[in-house]
Amino acid sequence: MSRRPAALPLPDPPLRRWFRRRLLDWYRRHGRSLPWRETRDPYRILVSEIMLQQTQVDRVLPKYHEWLERYPTFEALSRADEEEVVRVWYPLGYNIRPRRLHAIARDTVERFGGTLPAEPEALLSFKGIGEYTAGAIRSFAFGQRAAILDTNVARVLYRVFVGDGDASSHAMKRHLWQISWTVLPRRHVYDFNQALMDFGATACTARAPRCDTCPMTRRCRTFVRHGRRTATGRNAGRARS
Ligand code: ADE
Repeated sequence: MSRRPAALPLPDPPLRRWFRRRLLDWYRRHGRSLPWRETRDPYRILVSEIMLQQTQVDRVLPKYHEWLERYPTFEALSRADEEEVVRVWYPLGYNIRPRRLHAIARDTVERFGGTLPAEPEALLSFKGIGEYTAGAIRSFAFGQRAAILDTNVARVLYRVFVGDGDASSHAMKRHLWQISWTVLPRRHVYDFNQALMDFGATACTARAPRCDTCPMTRRCRTFVRHGRRTATGRNAGRARS
């Protein structure tokens, strides 16, 4: 008889509350001030999220401003020539992202009259908007309670709440999504998700986590079990800040 593996445990309510408080407190002191945090415009947030998918913040910043001057709305981007869009994007790398963003703009104009929909099913119907980007748009542009999980967030949640097992398996990814939903507060969702990203990008980094000044160490599974050493080990995930 085959037995299902035991379900991985989720953080209990006191631990969730503790983590939220510590993370939001950390964010108030160390959160970065970034231009896409000064807007709730779904277009601007989408542009930033697609640029940030594979590129670091400091390289995205100048291109983000230039892009918005040139293509300030879905309509403006949808009218642009695709090859020109690819050329403007080029310093961020030759890849599929500008074509996807252009197609999303055209699709938004054609199917939704130029306004990005807020419903998860509608967002996921766009090629180029996956679970992560949908969660980011829902929480950052529409103020909805929606979880996120990108490489940085996965690393933080894995280290703090799991600390053991194959960090890159599909089952673990599913589990980390569940954790991301479980720890998400009812209020302050926007700050909480932005905080998770900054914490992963600047404190709980892949190769050199700042455990010495980290507010989570007391209850961080990885730190408690192995100390700082293993946080930099093979389960740590790739760097992206
Ligand atoms: N990476 C992806 N989304 C981000 C955001 N909103 N802020 C900082 N880094 C990010």
